Amino acid sequence: FNVPTPINEPVKGYAPGSKERAELQQALKDLKQQQVDIPMYIGGQEVRSGKTKTISPPHDHKHVLGQFHEGDGTHVTQAIEAALAARRDWAELPWEHRAAIFLKAAELLAGPYRARLNAATMLGQSKNAFQAEIDAACELIDFFRFNVYFLQEIYKQQPESAPGMWNRLEHRPLEGFVFALTPFNFTSIAGNLPTSAALMGNVVVWKPANTQIYSAHVLMELFQEAGVPAGVINLVYVDGPTAGDVIFNHPEFAGIHFTGSTGVFQNIWKTIGQNIHKYKSYPRIVGETGGKDFILAHHSAHPRQVATAISRGAFEYQGQKCSAASRVYIPSNLYPEVKAYLQEDLKSMKMGDVEDFGNFINAVISEASFDKLAKYIDGAKEDSAVEIIAGGNYDKSKGYFVEPTVLVAKDPKYVTMCEELFGPVLTMHVYDADQFEETLDLVDSTSPYALTGAIFGQDRYAIDLASKRLVNAAGNFYINDKPTGAVVGQQPFGGARASGTNDKAGSMLNLLRWVSPRAIKETF
Ligand code: SER
Repeated sequence: FNVPTPINEPVKGYAPGSKERAELQQALKDLKQQQVDIPMYIGGQEVRSGKTKTISPPHDHKHVLGQFHEGDGTHVTQAIEAALAARRDWAELPWEHRAAIFLKAAELLAGPYRARLNAATMLGQSKNAFQAEIDAACELIDFFRFNVYFLQEIYKQQPESAPGMWNRLEHRPLEGFVFALTPFNFTSIAGNLPTSAALMGNVVVWKPANTQIYSAHVLMELFQEAGVPAGVINLVYVDGPTAGDVIFNHPEFAGIHFTGSTGVFQNIWKTIGQNIHKYKSYPRIVGETGGKDFILAHHSAHPRQVATAISRGAFEYQGQKCSAASRVYIPSNLYPEVKAYLQEDLKSMKMGDVEDFGNFINAVISEASFDKLAKYIDGAKEDSAVEIIAGGNYDKSKGYFVEPTVLVAKDPKYVTMCEELFGPVLTMHVYDADQFEETLDLVDSTSPYALTGAIFGQDRYAIDLASKRLVNAAGNFYINDKPTGAVVGQQPFGGARASGTNDKAGSMLNLLRWVSPRAIKETF
């Protein structure tokens, strides 16, 4: 037991004139020139249904990046069969080989795949170079390396024995297949959900969000080159109900690894409950869902620090991180300064496509998302109890562009203080500076979610009080820092309440959900 000690992958800066910037620009150019035809992958074979859909960058409707082949229920059935056919060999392969495959994936991604996966994430999901680098490259490399390390820690856990008796724990994979249902907003999550289950010896059917297929396909090539055998991870593109119909009725459905919306997850849970008698085992249900993440400043906070946390924590990747701050509580004494800093920060954020590395804000992911955000902004414009202190414009003529927007709501329970918008629209409420305790209750009770949250202040009594009162309000709680950007191995990530099952991504806790241990006693 001595896998390499994991270290977090250093973030590359992509400075003008740097080698990495030239490589990334070349990868962007190469991808833009190709018209990639993206197959499904079932049992190690490329599968083309002939029913294709085109893919365009969210920031540029006119450009076509390629097309993907859409599958139906038959493809899902084939993917399950391929997974089950590969199951025994994969489960019996000594763990060192599984670990080696994912350590190799980490090195391939740190090296030859880095520019291409970052470029695919930039073009397909409209992420700027820095956001792609911390996601598709660094976070996913970290997941691979740390998960292997955690696997070793899990396998090391063995019971006591005595002379004449040998007790041991065998960390078997689940009996059946795991379904990975992955989101658009992090290529690293799309990569981690199928591979963490596979690393523990499971076979997987993987369905990415349609809006992430462009980079999912690069991930699949990476897995294959790293040595993931045929059938261990099967990638299909089908609509949710079609996939669900086949998967949740299958007797060997053994677990779901999910990141996406609360509504979809709750429906899945219900369906699994209704079908429970059909399964060989109780399926593992692991999900990270919505958020309505907060920043709360105490009157002792530094306004500049608070404003920076808001600008970055709310608007990086257009606010489309599940961890992004979307409701902010500012004490009246700090408001004038925080407002001025925030307006200054937002003015300096350039918006445009991903190829101009100076653009901080790119497009939101889809027309549905754009329309939803526009509707909330219009609602705010018509409401006399809401002031728009920055942004407020949107335009979908070239791409789905929504300006970073800050609403200030008199009512702390105004609709955008409560509902998840998943975009660059933040709502702020100014509270009476001596009503800190009351505001803590408000923060705790305003939303059903509990993913991330941040408290800002210099007064340790206030920080202590906030930590205690908000103990269940966030699975990732930040003190004097923005609520985004959890690093694997440093801040295991996940929330409770309506935000998920809190089986922290990038931790032993998560990997333990993908094993079904057998306790063995042998006597001599
Ligand atoms: N892990 C990401 C973050 O912390 C969200 O998925 O921002």
